[in-house]
Amino acid sequence: MQIITPDYILTPDTLLSNMSVAFDKKIKKIAPLKELKKEFPDAVVTKLKKNSLLMPGLINAHVHLEFSANRTKLSYGDFISWLYSVIENREELIGGCDSSCMTKAIDSMLESGITTFGAISSHGMDLQACADAKQNVIFFNELIGSQAKMADALFTDFLARLDASKSIKREGFYSGVAIHSPYSVHPILIKKALQIVKKEKLKLTTHFMESSAERDWLDKSEGDFKDFFQNLLKQNSSLSSSSEFLEHFSGYMTLLTHAIKANEEELKMLSSNGHTVIHCPISNRLLGNGALDLKKLQEHNIRWICATDGLSSNYKLDLFEEMKCALFMHSNMPLLELAKQLIRSVTKDAADALGINSGEIAEGKSADMIVLDLQSKPSDELAIHLILHRYNISKVYINGILEKGI
Ligand code: BEZ
Ligand code: FE2
Repeated sequence: MQIITPDYILTPDTLLSNMSVAFDKKIKKIAPLKELKKEFPDAVVTKLKKNSLLMPGLINAHVHLEFSANRTKLSYGDFISWLYSVIENREELIGGCDSSCMTKAIDSMLESGITTFGAISSHGMDLQACADAKQNVIFFNELIGSQAKMADALFTDFLARLDASKSIKREGFYSGVAIHSPYSVHPILIKKALQIVKKEKLKLTTHFMESSAERDWLDKSEGDFKDFFQNLLKQNSSLSSSSEFLEHFSGYMTLLTHAIKANEEELKMLSSNGHTVIHCPISNRLLGNGALDLKKLQEHNIRWICATDGLSSNYKLDLFEEMKCALFMHSNMPLLELAKQLIRSVTKDAADALGINSGEIAEGKSADMIVLDLQSKPSDELAIHLILHRYNISKVYINGILEKGI
């Protein structure tokens, strides 16, 4: 048992002072130090510096590690141009990122306080790095392929990757499934994958309504995707409508990434199914997809959480940077309220959406915690200051183990 004594604790809904936390793998009790010492006399006590803040470790629900080699290869500003540049540079990017490149990306997340991440794995090349990561990992095996003639081979490959991920037995590692998107996965493949997901109760995610190209293609088989599909895949029309796609996810909680171009009907469907939207503001800006309407999501009572996406559409994997960009991007929202929602979105709400027992400094939760060195006593506007000032992260605990700091 250990006891940690910060000056302040952000739970994340409440700010506590003069309280300590007793924990092993899990948080056992939150109480004044004297009380905890009496209850746990053998515990090792860590007294933190003045103005230290303990808060839940951050959760990055959406990252593509296999693309971590990108710095300047990909074209930004327009979704379809970016997609062409991904296809053109795919071999070089994937080949250029070995396990050490992915481990570097994973370690950079640890440095910025990320204690859990959801890895969207296209090829399974990131499996070993994720198995070896210090963080909790939801390993989402991605299914992609719109051509019927390729379906059997693609599904066999998908099953092999899923099985390989299921063979990783370590605390905090979960296998999941990612359906790439409504435009890129054949409905037969989706059906087959979701049978497994539902039977095995796997965690499930997909990209959804990221670009105008996707909207136009699914609605009218027109727009920027027309040439792309005709030239590269010999397809003249979309394989399904957006509502047919969403139907696959009915009754099964799913994390949908982007949803910028989702319409009212789709938002109603997301809401009635308890789905979560993953918001990646930097990626959305760099790929020219515009800003997600957070107000509208809230009107529909849809949970949204903030994530980084991969280094194919970002310059770092840092949720503090991501939250800062979101704070400036959504300038129509009340500043303090948005800052609080963002902090919640990368802690408690992300944990709830992913179905993991983390994201809060609360009794019974996993001891996934970070220590920030504030410069002064926190004010009512702490959430804003946390996002703006990027305070030093002096300690990171994952499942009660100190993984960064001394
Ligand atoms: C496909 O594999 O069919 C596909 C991949 C990316 C975009 C669109 C389709
Ligand atoms: Fe993504």
